[in-house]
Amino acid sequence: MNSQICRWHIYPTAQNLEINAAHAIFRIASQAILEHGAFSIVLAGGNTPKAIYQRLSVMPADWRHWHVYFGDERCVPDGHAERNSSMALTSWLGHVPIPPQQIHVIPAENGPQEGAREYCVALNPIEDFDLVLLGLGEDGHTASLFPGHEWGVEADAPAAIAVTHASKSPGNRVSLSAARLSRARQVLFFVAGASKSAAVKSWRSGGELSARAICPPGGVEVLADESAFGV
Ligand code: 6PG
Repeated sequence: MNSQICRWHIYPTAQNLEINAAHAIFRIASQAILEHGAFSIVLAGGNTPKAIYQRLSVMPADWRHWHVYFGDERCVPDGHAERNSSMALTSWLGHVPIPPQQIHVIPAENGPQEGAREYCVALNPIEDFDLVLLGLGEDGHTASLFPGHEWGVEADAPAAIAVTHASKSPGNRVSLSAARLSRARQVLFFVAGASKSAAVKSWRSGGELSARAICPPGGVEVLADESAFGV
């Protein structure tokens, strides 16, 4: 595994983290649009980002230049409440005028293998992402890169990989590979809650976690609240 450059930013509460995270995303987007007229972002799934997404939904961003991708998706029907895309749509994307053709949902309803194959095709023409958002599971996973599974760390790993028998339900998923998640100008992790403190401790002591396999050239920023950081 490449050596990860990791900078930690600790906030007293989850709400502080959410406010700073939303402003950081807005700032990075504005800068990307200023520099090259577009902004590509990969969204994190799970529950942690939801409040961040809700804050973004009321911010005055230049939405017409946003291009949205997903870091992973559960293999349940499109529109299902357990979908990461459903969470993003209801908390944010459904409330802002991003052109629908610029929201690239993972076709995970087609199953892990076919969904990964199709998303590899969709990602093929895309350069490095401007920003990748990621969460952290209690076991140290990020996206749907679970312990004991393939993470796709090799430089020539496919952009999207099929995940079966995941330890977090549902078992079948599609995930961007560690290599593709690392092809980013900036990466922000959001980690909140005492349930993540063991994973954070393992991360900081060099544990074998897929979160540590995300190694963009510029390093990663981890925004954590004090309870996750074990303060
Ligand atoms: C998912 C996510 C997963 C998530 C972590 C943290 O499909 O659930 O992609 O990687 O980010 O498990 O989840 P919470 O934010 O709900 O703790």
